[in-house]
Amino acid sequence: MKKVLIATVKPFAPVAVKKINKIFKKAGYEVQLIEKYNSKQDLLDAVATVDAAIIRSDKFDAEVLNAAKNLKIVVRAGAGYDNVDLQAATKNDIVVMNTPGQNANAVAELAIGLAILGIRELFSGKPGGELRGRTLGLHGFGFVARNVFRIARAMGMKVIVYTQYSKDAAAAIGLKVTHSLEELYEKSDVVSIHVPAKGEHIKSVSYKVLKHLKDGSILVNTARKEVINEPDLVKLMGKKQGVKYMSDVTPDCEKEFSEKFEGRYFFTPKKAGAQTAEANLNAGVAAAEQIIDFFEKGDIACKVN
Ligand code: 3PG
Repeated sequence: MKKVLIATVKPFAPVAVKKINKIFKKAGYEVQLIEKYNSKQDLLDAVATVDAAIIRSDKFDAEVLNAAKNLKIVVRAGAGYDNVDLQAATKNDIVVMNTPGQNANAVAELAIGLAILGIRELFSGKPGGELRGRTLGLHGFGFVARNVFRIARAMGMKVIVYTQYSKDAAAAIGLKVTHSLEELYEKSDVVSIHVPAKGEHIKSVSYKVLKHLKDGSILVNTARKEVINEPDLVKLMGKKQGVKYMSDVTPDCEKEFSEKFEGRYFFTPKKAGAQTAEANLNAGVAAAEQIIDFFEKGDIACKVN
């Protein structure tokens, strides 16, 4: 009997856990669940005997992957797989997958929520503004950005995008694709970041790009803190006193923000973009089905390593 570990420091909603269990039971698989575990040792012990694992932002580094002697597949129930050491997985013949698009609407709704929070002056009582008629710049055009586009358009925003890899998809729906990232930042009232924490995107939001932001604009980050050059962002916010930074997850330089930029930022204490029952259900169920399809049919459609 195949054994599947669900390892989630940040647990799925109970409705998702129930559904995932039901799917595996029907397929004749055994499920082991560890939630809110306290130490890496808990994870190392748990992975030792399982054939598959479903995780969220849980760190599957080389030590964990080496300790998982029977592991054949790990599915990150979500989009970003920067928490998994792909090289170590490949070395150990472990397939790594994500569940593309499954939690995208939840993250997109948070991005729009953060934009509203910013333009309304964090509901501090100061008169704010409205998003309708403003220009939204999408930095990247993956599943989350496409959902942000759908919502923003319904709210009457003008939407532009900078993307290197999805130019045709953007143009096909009549979206203006800017020639450069600098042009996107220069023309937008709200910039929403939707690039993964890998390769050329790491620290790509640097002063070279940030200096083009309009004073008074809002930078929304529901991606990863790693894509931001934090010292450059601090420098920019010091120079352009109207810029706000709204981020899903607290940056390393939080102290500087609290000392210098009161009323101009908001950070979720823990990554909250995908924290909805719907997103947990969609991503969790997709992960379970992908594991079963992998073992029963050899399906590796969502493999990322
Ligand atoms: C993702 O990459 O899918 C999101 O950042 C959600 O991450 P989480 O599952 O850790 O909330």
